[in-house]
Amino acid sequence: MRNKLAENIYYVGVNDRKTEMFENHMELPNGVSYNSYLIVDEQVALIDPVEPEFMAQYIFQIKRILGAREVDYLIVNHDEPDHSGSVGAVLREWPEVTVVGNAKTFAPLENFYGAIANKKIVAEGETLSLGNHTLQFFMAPMCHWPESMVTYEQTSKIIFTNDAFGGFGALNGGIFDDEVNLAFYEDDMRRYYANIVGKVAMMALKTIQKAQTLDIKMIAPSHGLIWRSNLQWVIDRYTAWSKQEAKEGVVIVYGSMYGNTGRMADIVARGVADAGVKEIKVYDVSKTETSFIFSDIWQYKGMILGACSHYGSIFPNMVGLLHEIGEYKPQNKVVGLFGGASWSGGGLKTLKENAEACKWNIVGEPVEVKGAPIREEDIEKLYNLGLEIGKAIK
Ligand SMILES: [Fe+2]
Ligand SMILES: [Fe+2]
Repeated sequence: MRNKLAENIYYVGVNDRKTEMFENHMELPNGVSYNSYLIVDEQVALIDPVEPEFMAQYIFQIKRILGAREVDYLIVNHDEPDHSGSVGAVLREWPEVTVVGNAKTFAPLENFYGAIANKKIVAEGETLSLGNHTLQFFMAPMCHWPESMVTYEQTSKIIFTNDAFGGFGALNGGIFDDEVNLAFYEDDMRRYYANIVGKVAMMALKTIQKAQTLDIKMIAPSHGLIWRSNLQWVIDRYTAWSKQEAKEGVVIVYGSMYGNTGRMADIVARGVADAGVKEIKVYDVSKTETSFIFSDIWQYKGMILGACSHYGSIFPNMVGLLHEIGEYKPQNKVVGLFGGASWSGGGLKTLKENAEACKWNIVGEPVEVKGAPIREEDIEKLYNLGLEIGKAIK
């Protein structure tokens, strides 16, 4: 099997096509991979384990390479259980292993898995020799958790970046970027980025900038493809997403109980199109899981939100998306709002409150329609809202 990254450095990750929801809230139509790497030298190092469900396969893959040899070091770049979940199982398999982390690694790790006997705490820039290979550690705080770090192997010039440069999508045979059609993975990479690293985009950018000061031949993240031929492709995208360089396009998201607010969304969309915008995505918030919608919000300049009312407030299914937008604070957006009212109103009112709290750049007059959009004046207002947003982002 060609799962070698360099001399004595192996891919020993697993594919997960079974889990329906990543972190139990993001759909995985194309699965996800948990990448792990094994360096066989005078000392043996395992970099970032995998989800515990895959332990049998994982241990088999490692032993197939190692034989009777032991793992000496387990490098934990990140404590989140999609990676660290099998730390306990690795320790049971190789009880003498020394777990390597930084000053912030071990408290959370031991809260998850109990006391760890052999620990090695490393600091920024510190090295660990395995024989012919030397690992060097760089902190990457908040990319994705406070203890996140990256590991650079000096001989092969491979950087193991854990969540940074990762993406959704199981690895379908090809594990390297030059073995696949990159376009197949791009949407899943951006969805992963926006929903997982987006909140800490500036920290992600710092990690990217720090990594670029090193001489890197290969980027080996813990989800998705290993980058050896198209490093600039992934660095460019991760940099653009971190800087929130939004593209020309509009996402229209609506929440509708009986379809009337959906009808409004279509009228708004027509206005956007008449302004000459070609990339328009219209989502029913009850139909499409939030991570897909948020991924498009991240990449496009325009965001138009519409919601019907529910007991004087907003349609409940819209709340999750508003929460994520409020938390992650996507920047550089042109925002439009509309709402549907039956006996109470409240959809548009709640959207406006969010707009104020999040300091959104509201363009056009927010429109509230009572009942269905059947009056000419309402249709006109909705259309004009779309038109203005469309013009604003052109
Ligand atoms: Fe993570
Ligand atoms: Fe992860």
